[in-house]
Amino acid sequence: MTNTAAESRLFEPTRLGPLHLPNRLVMAPLTRNRAAADGVPQPIMATYYAQRASAGLIIAEATTPNAVGQTYPHIPALHHERHVAGWRQVTDAVRAAGGRMFVQLQHGGRVGHPDTSGLTPVAPSPIPLPETIHTPSGRRPSVVPREMTADDIRSTIADFASAARNAVAAGFEGVEVHAANGHLLHQFLAEGTNHRTDAYGGPVAHRIRFVVEVVRAVADAIGPDRVGLRISPANTVNGIEEGDTEHIYPALVDALADQGLAYLHLVFADPDQPLFPWIRKAWPGTLVGNPVLGWGGPLPADGGRGASERLLAAGADLIALGRPFLANPDLVERLRTGAPLNPVRDQYFMYTGGETGYTDYPAIGTPEPAGR
Ligand SMILES: Cc1cc2nc3c(=O)[nH]c(=O)nc-3n(C[C@H](O)[C@H](O)[C@H](O)COP(=O)(O)O)c2cc1C
Repeated sequence: MTNTAAESRLFEPTRLGPLHLPNRLVMAPLTRNRAAADGVPQPIMATYYAQRASAGLIIAEATTPNAVGQTYPHIPALHHERHVAGWRQVTDAVRAAGGRMFVQLQHGGRVGHPDTSGLTPVAPSPIPLPETIHTPSGRRPSVVPREMTADDIRSTIADFASAARNAVAAGFEGVEVHAANGHLLHQFLAEGTNHRTDAYGGPVAHRIRFVVEVVRAVADAIGPDRVGLRISPANTVNGIEEGDTEHIYPALVDALADQGLAYLHLVFADPDQPLFPWIRKAWPGTLVGNPVLGWGGPLPADGGRGASERLLAAGADLIALGRPFLANPDLVERLRTGAPLNPVRDQYFMYTGGETGYTDYPAIGTPEPAGR
């Protein structure tokens, strides 16, 4: 029996660099589109995150480090003092509730639209997203992004470093660099989106360069033990074609293994995939695994506890869960005691403002709001 509370390492306290974590459960970054149109976090976000403060660590949703990196409407930002002040309310509320937070820094690259950001998106190569994209006026055809110049590359790296400093000023314990799920950094890694012929394109050693430089600049800015990196090997979301997955990630992990980073975060971590044991062996620090919970379908009845236990047994140090935390503010307690989970109300995931489907998921013992 591994699934009894007394025996589970999931609920053991642990450390993440200088941080004490009360358990090994991490709230995965979840875009919820509740910031103001200019990217300033709103008070309702403080309520939402404080409700989830019993997570060992919260990784706050994808947050844009500069204006052109904005993906969708109402995404939070971290490139102006007003963003810092808005996030400060959130981190204060979470700290007061006993929690601790990192924030994910995400540049969308070609996953962006002039109707949303007011700017033409930039990307490694002028290859548009092969699908429509959500904008303030609904889904629109994607536009051809502008190929990044050497100056764009330098200034984008500087923007990541500056946003990381802003994150610390806003009260975050650290940042997660988003190199997953088809956004700018992933676009550099993947053959299908990176047709460059300079030092940032072509062979794998070149395609990993931008990610490595962003991570190093962010680590120089705030200290490596405050920096995590999220990757999603083989994920084809947002039209990604990596080409040579089995070469990209070993090269990337090798290049960053000795940097003393806070963690490496693997999306859809699967102990049965050959890359998982390889990465576990090659990565000397904390490995955060986000297990596969049946993407696109309902969550398993155990809320992901079985998959989490399995991933811990395979060598992950921390377990990140997304939708289970979205729908269950007190997820840690529910998983520990085996209490039933609130189902996810899919239609309220994204692109909506307000508290419905956001802060109104009930705590244990409280009924669901009527009529939903
Ligand atoms: C509503 C929603 C928003 C998401 N936003 C982000 C995000 O901002 N950054 C990110 O890296 N992943 C994002 N993801 C992916 C999750 O972090 C996670 O990898 C995914 O939900 C699978 O984990 P789960 O099965 O525990 O939900 C999002 C997923 C959902 C459902």
